[in-house]
Parts: sequence; structure tokens; C-alpha cells
Amino acid sequence: MKFFTTVESLLSERFGIVPSTLGPNVLTLAVKRRCDALSCNHRFEYLEKLQTEADEMMALIDEIVVPESWFFRDVVPFERLSQALAKRVKEYTPLTPLRVLSVPCAHGEEPYSIGISLLNLGLKTDAFYIKGVDVSQRVLTKARQGVFNSLSFRGENLDFRDYYFEPQENNRYRIKEPLRSHVTFEVANITDPLVLFQDSPYDVIFCRNVLIYFDGPSRERTLRNLDRLLNPNGLLFVGHAEANSAVGRLFAAKNWPGAFAYGKLPVSPKASRPPLRPKKVAVKRSPAFPPDRNVPASVSEKTESQPRPSGQPPQERQQKAKATAKLTYNLSEAHRLADAGQMQEAMKICDKYLEVNGPSSQALFLIGIMYLAGEEKTKARKLLEQAVYLNPQNQEAMNLLSHIASSQGDQAEAKRWKDRLNRVATREVSP
Ligand SMILES: C[S@@+](CC[C@H](N)C(=O)[O-])C[C@H]1O[C@@H](n2cnc3c(N)ncnc32)[C@H](O)[C@@H]1O
Repeated sequence: MKFFTTVESLLSERFGIVPSTLGPNVLTLAVKRRCDALSCNHRFEYLEKLQTEADEMMALIDEIVVPESWFFRDVVPFERLSQALAKRVKEYTPLTPLRVLSVPCAHGEEPYSIGISLLNLGLKTDAFYIKGVDVSQRVLTKARQGVFNSLSFRGENLDFRDYYFEPQENNRYRIKEPLRSHVTFEVANITDPLVLFQDSPYDVIFCRNVLIYFDGPSRERTLRNLDRLLNPNGLLFVGHAEANSAVGRLFAAKNWPGAFAYGKLPVSPKASRPPLRPKKVAVKRSPAFPPDRNVPASVSEKTESQPRPSGQPPQERQQKAKATAKLTYNLSEAHRLADAGQMQEAMKICDKYLEVNGPSSQALFLIGIMYLAGEEKTKARKLLEQAVYLNPQNQEAMNLLSHIASSQGDQAEAKRWKDRLNRVATREVSP
């Protein structure tokens, strides 16, 4: 495969970014700058670094991202947000703060604009929490400094600048305290299925001007992440070029012209849910699962895909149905706890579930995700493989396995899982 084709597919697999959307020569120049910085004489020497060193991938990302942003960009979303919150200001207190996520946040113009809007509404800083997330470490270093030049102030009305900023040398402005240090920043990849896994849900999410750079599967993963991260009554704002049918499938558009705002769709029991809200599974009692969570050799009987026992007397069937409902509920509870970052409690429920029900793809998948969240990739990999073994249709597990292998530099294994996932997905959509 050609050098640039390989680099492009690494970027799109890991970060969703399609380099051609960034403009001509962006990738060529970025690679050149990195090769110069590393004194790499041969492209393939550089490719090896890129495939094996996570830091190099992040350094290349820093070179190619487009951190274009400015204060109160598009204006209307900020006005609409203020209108939506105006009557609810008193609800937000230090114990029940409004939670806001700006992803991606570039140099911080967007999360600071949200902060200014909230201060203008009369909220004190301890009544709200704002997190800005971006894939680039370099842009976040600038965001934390909070110093901006004239390009970040493009609107007509710049009164806010006099009030919330202090002038610096060279026509620059620094955002004042307490807002500057109140906004939190974190490096993360919004296309990663486990992004911000430990965070509680947010009341407001701004995810603007990034979906346009992503390929279809990455956009889909991002939207599912946003669905997981948004409170049931939360508000999602996307960019004006991004308010399309893909967003409309998972979220309900607000009729607020120019705001490109969405709420959650009402939950239908039949709707397919995002990764951490699984379908209910049919469970079957079988011997206890060992506490070390290694699937025993005898697991060749694939518990979840077996037919349900039939021919029981009605009463026994009823009791069994009740027990099944209870156990299914328990696994859902484990998902809820894991979503809320309460891993130990979630883990206990999964253990219990496996003990009572025997090997289960859903439970192993969830434990795998929790290990992954704790950066225990090898254990996570083993559990997710077992989850696929028990349920060869488990696409989410395959997707994660591909990501883990790729992040461990095992591109062949990553490709193997991606191919398998594509085969299963194609079979699922074909008539
Ligand atoms: C055009 S800026 C958008 C900033 C802001 N939301 C706005 O609308 O003004 C795009 C940002 O997306 C970031 N980005 C690109 N891919 C990303 C990913 N996979 N996860 C998180 N951030 C990403 C880039 O680093 C860049 O700072």
C-alpha cells in the first residue's frame, strides 16, 4: 500500500478524520514537518514510528487539526441556550450544577463563550461545570492559558470583551478569573466508543464543526457517544453544516431557527440503544462462572444462542420468567452503574450475574469495557474475545477489539476485527 494511503487510513480508523476534508497538501506538509522534527530520512521509517508509537500519532494529529474557532461563533446557539436556561437558573446550585460539554473545543473560545453566557444569566461559577475536550494536546495548552488574539473576536458586538477579558501585549486578551480556571479541559477522541466513559451525563453538549471532518462510521460512533453523554432532558448543539439526517435519526430537532439544536428522542422499547444500554438478553441457568472470569474449556456450549427450554408446566414457566426478568434487570443496572462511573458496583453485579446465569456475551462485554476504561487492555481484549465467541454477532465487541489492537500497534489484528465486523454488518443489512 502507498505511504499516504496507509497514513490516511490510520488517521481515519483511529480518529475518524478524513484528511482530504482538511484541504489540499495538509497531510503532506504535516508529515514533512514531523519527519524534519524527527530527522527521519525515509518515509517508511516514519510510518513505522506512526504505527508503533502512540505519541507520534498524537504529534501528527497536532499538525493536521483545524482549530478554527471564535467567541460566540454563529451567535444564535448561545442566545437560544440562554433563553432555554433563563427560567431555570435557580435550579443550578453547587450541589446540582449545570453540566456542559464542549467537544471539540479548539482553543477554548466555545466553552468560555458558554461560561460568559451563564455568568450573564446570573449563575455563579460554582453552579455550573464546563468541560472542553479536544483531540489535540497542543490546542488545549493554549485553551488553558486563555490568551486570544483578534482572530478569536470576529463578531460585531464585542462588549463582552471589555468585561470578561484583560488586555495583554500585542493586541491580545486574556480571559479573567474565575472563569479561566473554572473551565476544565481534557484531551480525548470523540470517535472513541469509550470516550469520557467515567463522566456523569451532561445537560448541554456543544459538538460543532467536527462531524464534517469524519467518515460515516466515525460520525455514527460520535453520535452514539453524544447520546450516551447527554441527559434525557439535555440539549445538543451541532454546527450548521451538520444538522442532517444522521443527527436526526438519534436526536429530535428543536424548532429554533439558526440554533441547530436537538433533544433526545423519546426512548422506545424496540429502539436499538447505544453501546452501554444493551438489548435484554435471554438468560439460562448454568454452572457458576469462575471468579477469575476466564471462560472454561467447556464453554463450547454457547449459552445465549441456545433455544429456551420448552414444555414446562405454566407455573414453573411463570417463576422462571420472573427470575429471568429480575436477572436481566440486574445486568441493565450494571450498565447504568458503569455509565455513571461506579465500576466496582457494576463489576459486582456482573460477577453475580455470571455466577447465576453462566457465560454471557453481554456480561463479559461489559466487564471488558470496564477493564478498558481502567486501561487494562490485555484483560479487556480477552473478555471481549470471549464475548464475541459467545455471540458471533456482537459488533460492538468487534469494533472495540479492532480499536484496542490498533492502539497496541497490532494493525494486522485490528484489520482482522474490522473485516469481521464489516462481514457481520453487511450480512445484517442485506435482505
Ligand atoms: C473547527 S474546530 C471546532 C471548534 C468549535 N467547536 C467551533 O465550532 O468553533 C475543530 C476541532 O476538532 C478537533 N478534532 C478533530 N478530530 C477530533 C476528534 N476525533 N476528537 C476530538 N476533537 C477532534 C480539532 O483538534 C479541532 O480543534
